[in-house]
Amino acid sequence: MNIRCETLEDYTVIAEVNKLAFDQENEAKIVEKIRNSDRYIPEFSLVAEVENVVVGHILFSYIDLVGEETLQVLGLAPLAVHPQFQRQGIGSALIKAGLEIAEAKGEAIVIVLGHPHFYSRFGFQASVVYEIESPFPIPEDVFMVKPLQSYQKKYKGKVVYPAAFDGV
Ligand SMILES: CC(C)(COP(=O)(O)OP(=O)(O)OC[C@H]1O[C@@H](n2cnc3c(N)ncnc32)[C@H](O)[C@@H]1OP(=O)(O)O)[C@@H](O)C(=O)NCCC(=O)NCCS
Repeated sequence: MNIRCETLEDYTVIAEVNKLAFDQENEAKIVEKIRNSDRYIPEFSLVAEVENVVVGHILFSYIDLVGEETLQVLGLAPLAVHPQFQRQGIGSALIKAGLEIAEAKGEAIVIVLGHPHFYSRFGFQASVVYEIESPFPIPEDVFMVKPLQSYQKKYKGKVVYPAAFDGV
């Protein structure tokens, strides 16, 4: 398996992998909307290839954390692995690769909405532990944050997703 940044040629297969993984079109559309927004960070859109075929994709983009000041933090979404390639470590490898880039770039925190059983193994914890509030009425344990080395206590408040995420 090989992990690399997305290129223009990957856009179609990334959309396909997202549609197959989620069994709906929403996430593929969100990826497109984020790419066309000012929150897109090209080096944070990663693909996993097996025998030169893209079978997984992860996107991190900037979302707002609104507290005493408004800070841009990384949101992890979506993450998709082709159904025929799930439970082989590909999703985990994409998360780890993204977190390494985030550390290298000096990012402070990553936010995700997902399965606690899965994300806790990468160091994600319920956001309430860090006084970070979800914008959605969801159980506390599914809205998670991973603080990175640059994390400081000022990273608290309520998360606001940009318009690209409308329709999640
Ligand atoms: C969730 C997903 C990205 C994981 O990728 P993966 O390559 O299968 O994951 P890995 O092989 O690295 O890790 C396996 C873990 O993923 C989790 N997982 C895999 N498939 C899952 C599913 N359908 N539902 C919930 N958790 C799942 C489990 O925690 C599993 O751990 P376990 O085997 O110890 O139970 C992938 O299954 C997927 O694309 N699912 C559909 C889309 C989705 O739900 N995306 C996540 C949004 S937060």
